[in-house]
Amino acid sequence: MIKITTIVENTVVKARFRAEHGLSMLIEKDKEAVLFDTGQTDALIHNAKLLGIDLSKINKVILSHGHYDHVGGLKYLLEFTKPKVYAHPEIFRKRYSRLSDDGNLRYIGIEDREFFEKKGAEFILSEEPIEVIDGLFTTGFERMRTDFEEVDKNFVYEKDGEYVKDEVEDDMSVVIKTRHGLFVLFGCAHRGIVNIMLDAEEKFKEKVFGFLGGTHLGPASENQRKKTIETLKRMDLKIMGPSHCTGLLMTSRMYCEFGDRVIFNNVGTVTIIE
Ligand SMILES: [Fe+2]
Ligand SMILES: [Fe+2]
Repeated sequence: MIKITTIVENTVVKARFRAEHGLSMLIEKDKEAVLFDTGQTDALIHNAKLLGIDLSKINKVILSHGHYDHVGGLKYLLEFTKPKVYAHPEIFRKRYSRLSDDGNLRYIGIEDREFFEKKGAEFILSEEPIEVIDGLFTTGFERMRTDFEEVDKNFVYEKDGEYVKDEVEDDMSVVIKTRHGLFVLFGCAHRGIVNIMLDAEEKFKEKVFGFLGGTHLGPASENQRKKTIETLKRMDLKIMGPSHCTGLLMTSRMYCEFGDRVIFNNVGTVTIIE
């Protein structure tokens, strides 16, 4: 049995939990646990306590990419545990968004490697897939394949003193092998959910039957949104849990298309895969 508990997400529908722009999900499988992303602040600690999750027992963390809303909670987690942290080698880029209230670039990256290592994180950086626990893998680098998905145009990073377009090459997702096929967890899916699922199917030689996580369809173009929905229809997925950067409008649109196959994944949602 696989149990996925959403600890941090943009939406809260139950009392006392904290919502924030961010994502963190705990995956439990065969008595092992892996934390996927850490949210933006100490909401991770607050919500985990309410959910009865003992953070001191977490010894494996996967980071989806180097944006503050997925890694910001790590420094708080490191006060409870000194885990192995799996990520892509490009996760520490100094990255910015062009979208800001004052017209300046807004810093959306994370602290540097040494900052986390001093607090006890042990990084395992790889652009290849890694089996983190039995049957649960990182995707490694996600290749772009579709002609309708693109990385957010507002992202840049500092390279040799210049700002260049950030293709978020460090974006990684989680793939779990189940008896129904592959189940995928996205952080923000900056390289496109269809790209990521097709990439996973090629790497792991099985079909995807469901996903949970950020799809970045909220800020995507209408063309990307429409073609993604068309493709999802063909893929005939059984569980879809669009979250975080999907936005309520796009999540509602998916619910209208796919009905009960869409889960409204927010803080405290538990997804069980038998
Ligand atoms: Fe995000
Ligand atoms: Fe992101």
